[in-house]
Parts: sequence; C-alpha cells; structure tokens
Amino acid sequence: MEFIIDTADLGAIKRIVEFFPVTGVTTNPSIIAKEKTDFKQLVLALREAVGPDKQLHVQTTCKKAEEIVREAEELQALVGGEFYIKIPVGPEGLKATMMLKKKGIGVTMTAIFTAQQALQGALAGATYVAPYVNRLDNVCADGVGTVADIVTLFDAHGLDCKVLAASFKNVQQVHEVALCGGHAVTINPELYDQIVYHPLTDKAIADFDADWAGVYGDKGILELIK
Ligand code: E4P
Repeated sequence: MEFIIDTADLGAIKRIVEFFPVTGVTTNPSIIAKEKTDFKQLVLALREAVGPDKQLHVQTTCKKAEEIVREAEELQALVGGEFYIKIPVGPEGLKATMMLKKKGIGVTMTAIFTAQQALQGALAGATYVAPYVNRLDNVCADGVGTVADIVTLFDAHGLDCKVLAASFKNVQQVHEVALCGGHAVTINPELYDQIVYHPLTDKAIADFDADWAGVYGDKGILELIK
C-alpha cells in the first residue's frame, strides 16, 4: 500500500519524506494556490523536495483533451521523474487519458465520486483513480464504501488501475480504506502525525526511560557495551 502526501508545503514535504515511508506528493489547484507563489518555481521545488525517485502528481487546469495532453507533456518535461497528470473525470478528461496512455504519460483521474466514474477512468488507461472519501462522507454518501466498491470492480474485471483514495479528515477513514484494499491514500501532513500518535505509546516510552534511569542513570547502551 502506498502513502502519499497531499500538500504543496515544501517544509512539510521535506519533513514527511524524512520520517515516513511515502511514495510521493499530490497537489490540486486549491493546494497550489494556497502557497501564493510562482507556479513554475513551486513545481520545480516540489520535485526537489520530494526527490527524483518519488511521484509528483500535478493537476491540469485545462478543459479540452488536446490542451490537457499538451499541458501534461510540458509539465512532465519540466519536472521529470515519476510524474502523473491529475485530470478531473469527464468526457474530455477520459479522451485525454486515452491519448496520454498511448504516449506513456501517467494519469491520476481525480474528483471521483462514484464507482462508475472510477471504472471509466480505469478503462481509459488511468494509472490511479482518486475517490474523495471525506467529501463523500460530508454528504452522507459513504466514502469508504465507494472505495470498497471500486476495489471490487477492479478486481472483478482484472483492471490494472490503482485506487488512490483522497480527501481524508481522520485516521479512521484511512484505516477503513486500508482494510478494504485501497491501494494508496494521499493525506495531509497533520494526519501523518496523528496516524502514529497514541498517548499509551508516550506513556510506555516514559515508563521505559524511568525504569532504565533507575538502574543505569543517564548512561546509554553504547556507553555500557564499549
Ligand atoms: C487529492 O487528490 C484531492 O484533491 C484532495 O485530497 C482533496 O482533499 P480535500 O477534500 O481535503 O480538499
């Protein structure tokens, strides 16, 4: 299973890449706009921050298939490495996906809210489809259930497309997506810290430290075995 970082905050990306086993970064126009900076410099800095060996997903702002394809080609040439163009699902997006498949450029079909949208994305040749879990939960439409349906469809029809679940607000949603076979999640930096936090873990470590200090004081293992 893949964990991806859903942000364009360079400092946060560098920290998460250092401390967590992630495979890349996803952005969307809202995430990019939040940084209020030069777009070209930002995408180049995103590539540098995530590293040359990891994924970078950047979303198109074009509406017509031919324009989406041109944007994807130029963005890939600019940022290099493992690049995916994020394309919102729809007729023009599907057409662009089929064209990009032939050119060997990876597509993440995004803004997915139903399993049938995901099925079309997979059949068109997307590498990933991105259902929005929390935005579905917000309208009582069962985000995790939609992810589970997509996983079932892809398995049933032997489709070589991964479910990259997006739009998370809590760890339970991430957990349920992992349990139902979602192939990847993209989550914000704050959720990474919440995933590994537990007060009992902190207490366990404090107890270990106190017991150790009671016998060995401030000496560490390396000091004791030299
Ligand atoms: C990623 O592909 C999506 O654009 C993103 O996760 C949406 O998240 P939000 O619902 O928190 O804006």
